[in-house]
Amino acid sequence: MNIVETENKYTSGLYAKQTLTIVRGQGASLFDVDGNEYLDCAAGHGVANLGHAHPKIAEALYKQASTLITLFESFPNDQRAALMEKICTLLPGLDRVFFCNSGTEAVEASFKFSRISNGRKNIVAAMRAFHGRTYGSLSATFNKKYRDGFEPLVPGFCHVAYNNIEALDKAVTEETAAVILEVVQGEGGVYPADVEYIQSARRICDERGALLIVDEIQSGFGRTGRMFAIQHYGITPDLLTCAKSLAGGVPMGAVLIGRNVKNLTPGVHGSTFGGNPLSCAAAIAALTVLEEEDLPGQAEAKGKYLMEKLKKIDSPNIREVRGMGLMVGIELKQKVAPYIKALQEKRIIALNAGMTVIRLLPPLVISYEQIDHLVDVLTDVLTTEQKDE
Ligand SMILES: Cc1ncc(COP(=O)(O)O)c(C=O)c1O
Repeated sequence: MNIVETENKYTSGLYAKQTLTIVRGQGASLFDVDGNEYLDCAAGHGVANLGHAHPKIAEALYKQASTLITLFESFPNDQRAALMEKICTLLPGLDRVFFCNSGTEAVEASFKFSRISNGRKNIVAAMRAFHGRTYGSLSATFNKKYRDGFEPLVPGFCHVAYNNIEALDKAVTEETAAVILEVVQGEGGVYPADVEYIQSARRICDERGALLIVDEIQSGFGRTGRMFAIQHYGITPDLLTCAKSLAGGVPMGAVLIGRNVKNLTPGVHGSTFGGNPLSCAAAIAALTVLEEEDLPGQAEAKGKYLMEKLKKIDSPNIREVRGMGLMVGIELKQKVAPYIKALQEKRIIALNAGMTVIRLLPPLVISYEQIDHLVDVLTDVLTTEQKDE
């Protein structure tokens, strides 16, 4: 079987396909079908925080798969109960949880919970925000690229300039159900919010009786140097959405729920697969590894090391290096596509964030040696002219 040809024949067509076939991962490395090693600075768009093929995740999955894979949340289960207890002690004040299967589902749920909680309709989101691609989430996602062709979207959504307290202050009224924010915008270009902005968002929501939703789908689980990025900001949201790395790579999403969220009664929302014992077992293992290996601490130290080195690259092509922990953006003065291609030719897999930002989201287990190698290759690529084909 020719893998590339087979996928090209049967694909939905929704993905811009690479010609590189990846068949195995180990730590921060990926291997192609010929055994060539690549340094993974994408981590499946921020999923593989623990690295690939972590033995503790494999063990938990094997054990649970041979015990019980599926169980609707109406029936209590040992794995789910253990995960609930663990996840609800991560952030004081967020002590209930809803489990689902992906990021966009977590965001959808957070909007439904907001509207049912306070009976209001309006949701305020930020410009450049990315919250997913299903209808509710898409209505909060800003970029036209994702929205065009799908109107009418869900009514009641508006967007205000990010990191702008005045704009938020004007937009939030007594009819606002919730404000949704990423504390570090990911897809939008890797923009960390100012502390004052997030603290003001909390105050503004409190003053007007709106709920504050923080979307930590990309920034959660150690990525920014704390378990959740919001811990850098000294406030607690009413709802926190997470997914990606929650279950060590196994599909799972969750909404952490604070005490201001009301009216969550049977039947208001639900999910067939949500909270299944297999994903729960994987998530318990993932959270245990995050704590045991102090991956948030590693992300903080390695992120600082990486950013310091990146800031020293002397290239007229670089406009700015920014980020938090191991969520790093290198903004260029031109389109990044040819640079990402050049990196891949040198066996580094990186992401873009918009047209002009190279986004680095490596597994948090990346070694200092691998970071040095990444910086050497980036220096080479960024100081050489790359042609946009
Ligand atoms: C901040 C944020 N919210 C929501 C999503 C949507 O998550 P999913 O692709 O799992 O639906 C993403 C995905 O990249 C994200 O980065």
